[in-house]
Amino acid sequence: MSNPTFGMPVWIVLIVLVAWLGVKALTRLHRHASKSHQAPTDDVYNKIEPLSDFKWQTTEPLQIRPFKPRYHLTMALQNTTMSELVAKDKTYVDRINLRRQLINDHPNDVVAANPRIVPAVKEFHAWMFGTYLPSRYSSMFKLIPASGPGQDAQCVNRVTSDTIPVYTEDAISSLRVLGEHIDTDFLFLLPSESPADEGKYRLEGFITCFPSGFNTPQKLNLTLADIHAPVPGYGVKIEKSMDRFFATLPTGKIVLRTNWSITTNTRLFSLGGNHLYEGEEAVEEVVDIDKTMLRCERQTLHRLPESKALVFAFRTYQYPIRAVKEEGNGEALADAIDGLSSGSVPGMAVYKRGVVWGSAVKAFLRT
Ligand code: HEM
Ligand SMILES: *[C@@H]1O[C@H](CO)[C@@H](O)[C@H](O)[C@H]1NC(C)=O
Ligand SMILES: *[C@@H]1O[C@H](CO)[C@@H](O)[C@H](O)[C@H]1NC(C)=O
Ligand SMILES: *[C@@H]1O[C@H](CO)[C@@H](O)[C@H](O)[C@H]1NC(C)=O
Repeated sequence: MSNPTFGMPVWIVLIVLVAWLGVKALTRLHRHASKSHQAPTDDVYNKIEPLSDFKWQTTEPLQIRPFKPRYHLTMALQNTTMSELVAKDKTYVDRINLRRQLINDHPNDVVAANPRIVPAVKEFHAWMFGTYLPSRYSSMFKLIPASGPGQDAQCVNRVTSDTIPVYTEDAISSLRVLGEHIDTDFLFLLPSESPADEGKYRLEGFITCFPSGFNTPQKLNLTLADIHAPVPGYGVKIEKSMDRFFATLPTGKIVLRTNWSITTNTRLFSLGGNHLYEGEEAVEEVVDIDKTMLRCERQTLHRLPESKALVFAFRTYQYPIRAVKEEGNGEALADAIDGLSSGSVPGMAVYKRGVVWGSAVKAFLRT
């Protein structure tokens, strides 16, 4: 039985209709996909991917093994996401207890802020405790919205039971609070305003409980180039690209890099002694293998959307070299130690004190 519409059978009309709807739906999907590819910057900071059932007590620390057969000095940046800014694991309570002790005992070594950086610190603090931590680690941090006019939002650290105001006025206490709750060190940079080095990024504030052999207060107000003055090859190999990268990093983008070294002690707070500087004598030392660590940093860099300051963040990891050997990476690490002097900047072997501990550590790793 046929029921022609304007002389066409119904099934032809249906096919045309279904095809047209299909094309429309596909176009919409495609438009949606290309839009989410260039997510508005707001989303990058506000839509943090939750780790809903996260249990810090049973989460192993990241196993970072960045060593290569030859050391080449490059920026070596990878892309990452805002969600991955802060890593947490079962060392959390031990680490923040140590940080609290350091902030208490050595306040002048671990925290500082110039007046210029106050808006950036406040912005970062409000985002960290008001958005990032309660979204990412809701099992550890709970946001309590403002209960009424004149009240401010608060964040509760469920592990320590501390209550943290989301909005702060004082940059130093804000940096201390960041240091007391997050096992990551933060450094804040802004472009210089002085004519001599205009536009070059300078260190304006920080909370660094775990410096790897440098004194952060002595780096305050310095440009990237001056901060890195002791690093062999920096000026020749990466200074220009670093300055360009820092000046042009857009909001909404975040990059990651990792580095490594060997330390012959287990100190996390280390204002000196992990590097050899020009003019210092290199004497081979007696190495206690049980205290010898592979020390790695997971570093990120991103720009704050309001103040436009840059935040350099690093999380420090320590792995006993005994464990590195036991997992089967002994030979690779020993090769990387040799590779410090056969890469693009042979001076690295001296800077990283490889000349001091190198032969003892390699002998252990290779037998
Ligand atoms: C993301 C870009 C960066 C790159 C590629 C970079 C690269 C390096 C390199 C290659 C070293 C030598 C040790 C190693 O092997 O890692 C170093 C050391 C150091 N970097 Fe960076 N760095 C960056 C950002 C920063 C920032 C933003 C700061 C501080 C605000 C900083 C502070 C330092 C300090 C204090 C040292 C130790 C210098 C010393 O021995 O006195 N770095 N950096
Ligand atoms: C990172 O993302 C940028 C675009 O923002 C791209 O040009 C670059 O190639 C990416 N880098 C890596 C290492 O994937
Ligand atoms: C850093 O610069 C600020 C001005 O922004 C100044 O008050 C302070 O004394 C300087 N600190 C150091 C350590 O040079
Ligand atoms: C890794 O890089 C940071 C900053 O660039 C530096 O302070 C630190 O000394 C380096 N760490 C190691 C373990 O070499």
